[in-house]
Amino acid sequence: MDVLIICCCLFSIVFADDYFVSNRRFPKNFKFGTASAAYQIEGGWDADGKGENIWDRSTHLYPEKNSYQNGDIACDSYNKWEEDVELLKGMGVNTYRFSIAWSRVLPTGFVNSSNPAGIAYYKNLIAALKANNIEPLVTMHHWDIPTVLEDLGGFTNPEMQEWFVDYARFLFEIYGDDVKEWITFNEPKQTCEHGYGTGALAPNIVSPGIKDYICGHNLIIAHGKAYRMYEQEFKNKQNGRVTMVIDSNWFEPASDIPEDVEAAERNLLFTYGWFGHPVNFGDYPEIMKERIASRSQLEGFESSRLPTFTEEEKQIINGTVDYMCVNIYTSSMASASAEPVIKPLNPDRDSDIGTNVFQPDDWEPTVTSWFKVVPWGSRKLVKWISDTYGHPEIMVTENGYHDNGTVIHDIDTRGRYHKLYLSNLQDALYKDGVNLTGYMAWALTDDFEWQYGYNIQLGFYQVNFTDPERPRRPKDSSEYYRHVVTTGCLVP
Ligand code: NOJ
Repeated sequence: MDVLIICCCLFSIVFADDYFVSNRRFPKNFKFGTASAAYQIEGGWDADGKGENIWDRSTHLYPEKNSYQNGDIACDSYNKWEEDVELLKGMGVNTYRFSIAWSRVLPTGFVNSSNPAGIAYYKNLIAALKANNIEPLVTMHHWDIPTVLEDLGGFTNPEMQEWFVDYARFLFEIYGDDVKEWITFNEPKQTCEHGYGTGALAPNIVSPGIKDYICGHNLIIAHGKAYRMYEQEFKNKQNGRVTMVIDSNWFEPASDIPEDVEAAERNLLFTYGWFGHPVNFGDYPEIMKERIASRSQLEGFESSRLPTFTEEEKQIINGTVDYMCVNIYTSSMASASAEPVIKPLNPDRDSDIGTNVFQPDDWEPTVTSWFKVVPWGSRKLVKWISDTYGHPEIMVTENGYHDNGTVIHDIDTRGRYHKLYLSNLQDALYKDGVNLTGYMAWALTDDFEWQYGYNIQLGFYQVNFTDPERPRRPKDSSEYYRHVVTTGCLVP
């Protein structure tokens, strides 16, 4: 009875919103889940033979770049994974998106270094999920390559393409009978733009407009080769699907003048299209190729800073996603700007795009300055992906609300946030004809949020990071999400 009263109270708060949310249901087979990444939750950074990865190294060597915090223990999901599976089960989700730590299964990154304890960890996790009718949606790379590979150049070394294919084959052989949904890379834009461009993320290399594009190039070919390898060696026996997760803001034109409309489209192409075009059409968007080539020439480079795919590579990468994925969090406005000054031999990606991008002050804020709540942007972004790539199946593989992690009664913040985004995504599904098949909320639990450490949080469960036991405590939004995934309905 008490539980019923609490639920009614929670719902009366969340539905007190004046926003209209209809009582439509998501389709019965819609995939509802939560998402996570190994480094952010597992801990056990050197447990049972695990090798060092670039996040272990970055947080240990450059604590100042990571809010003086690290994922050495994080949520301790390396030890508490059974409890996490129980939480997922209690929430009623039918899918769980998680990543495999490359250096846990292959400590050096190379296939001759396999680690039985690491392999068993994911075997057990996958078996427990399946025993509870929760489908594993597995990411192979969520930003944590082994340092041995980084020392050889990481994503700037073309050999990474083959190292990744070997790793992917190893995963298909070991887990492919049980895992039918594979994601090669999570958010390659972040991996490359911030890992090898601005240096904000591990491996913290600063080379904007140069190494970020080289990283993207090798990563796209690595993805394409892994996809083809699955097609040739495993598809018949295992019958799974392979895709890539790409993140993007929605970019809204600041006005309806053609220059601003073009500026918004240009941002979408430089962001989502950077990876979306090659894996769908076999090459970068024309605007990227043109602008970077002409700017490179003016800056004094001998050739374009954006590498070129060979004809053979184009064939390999063309059509290598079985469905499209997008991580959606927020939106920006874009307007045309005067051409930025050309800086000789000192490029950067923002100047390559050459627009003004901003979030208006009157958009609803959260604790993170770059992150405003813009639910309608999610509808527009999935519609853009659908229109641009020929109406493919689309899954939202991440979305979530940032706060400082202290708020348990988050029904009118995090609960409302998911409700409003899901309502807009329902409009995309039912009114715009977008073939949307899933939604993975970030995240089940609070976690280590990369360069922000534990200072911002998005989980449905709070984790006490000062307690060695890392206890989990439900936030009110967990009950709301349980309602949504078990009924398919956003209102009671
Ligand atoms: C996207 C990333 O994939 C994930 O690792 C991160 O924690 C979330 N954004 C939330 O910021």
